[in-house]
Amino acid sequence: LSESTQERCPVNFPVAVVLPAAGSGERTGLSTPKQFCRILGRPLISYTIHAFERVCWIDNIVVVVAKESHDMMADILHKYNHTKVKIVEGGPTRHRSIFNGLLAFSEPGVGPKLQKPKVVIIHDAVRPFLEEDFLLKITLAAKEQGASGAVRPLVSTVVAATTGGCLDYSLERAKYRASETPQAFIYDIIYQAYQQCSEAEFQFGTECLDLALQHCGTRAQLIEGPPTLWKVTHKQDLASAEAVIKESLSQS
Ligand code: CTP
Ligand code: MG
Repeated sequence: LSESTQERCPVNFPVAVVLPAAGSGERTGLSTPKQFCRILGRPLISYTIHAFERVCWIDNIVVVVAKESHDMMADILHKYNHTKVKIVEGGPTRHRSIFNGLLAFSEPGVGPKLQKPKVVIIHDAVRPFLEEDFLLKITLAAKEQGASGAVRPLVSTVVAATTGGCLDYSLERAKYRASETPQAFIYDIIYQAYQQCSEAEFQFGTECLDLALQHCGTRAQLIEGPPTLWKVTHKQDLASAEAVIKESLSQS
């Protein structure tokens, strides 16, 4: 590689991405899952895919969607020319969907056959604002440590409630972080962690970094990410995402 190519591609091992996008977006109250809602005419998930496709050191992207969304997803990939992307069928929980995405790199005959990456980035399809330098940070940290993930300072104090709905206790806010995505893992570690997952973990668990710690003893590096990593969760978040995209278009 010439020096300029190396500068542009600072990663010399295979990296792939899994984008879980098989949820139904209940909290938006909309009939269309939020990942397919249009922002300035384009589906939200297409912005997220684009943020990864423009990174030269990312080889493959797997989007995990519900069975009934497969054809719509295929149309989006075609229309917006997302050539690095393969579609995998999701499961009933986010953990199931992610594991299905990971299987695409491991089991011949199950879904698309893709080269097994050294590091896999897992990122919610409904967080469209990503910068390459942050992806690089978590990717290199995962290669070193085994796992890494984005965190943000808490904006509210976390309290535990009694069954009667009264305050039980509160947590010391400065000690805790909100876990966001992207997260990155040595592929073999997160794959093995999911293989060892119990049914209860698949059903109720929400933290991939914790699976790597519990099942593989892998320490996860927490890295403070930019405020733009927030997740589209409620209906008004779609309007906020539109405002951010409009602003970035006006600056470019
Ligand atoms: N997800 C998934 N498979 C599931 C559930 C969730 O791939 N069975 C994905 C979502 O599509 C989303 C990400 O996981 O990209 C984060 O989940 P969340 O924000 O909770 O999305 P939804 O589950 O769709 O929304 P809600 O919880 O409001 O129903
Ligand atoms: Mg959910």
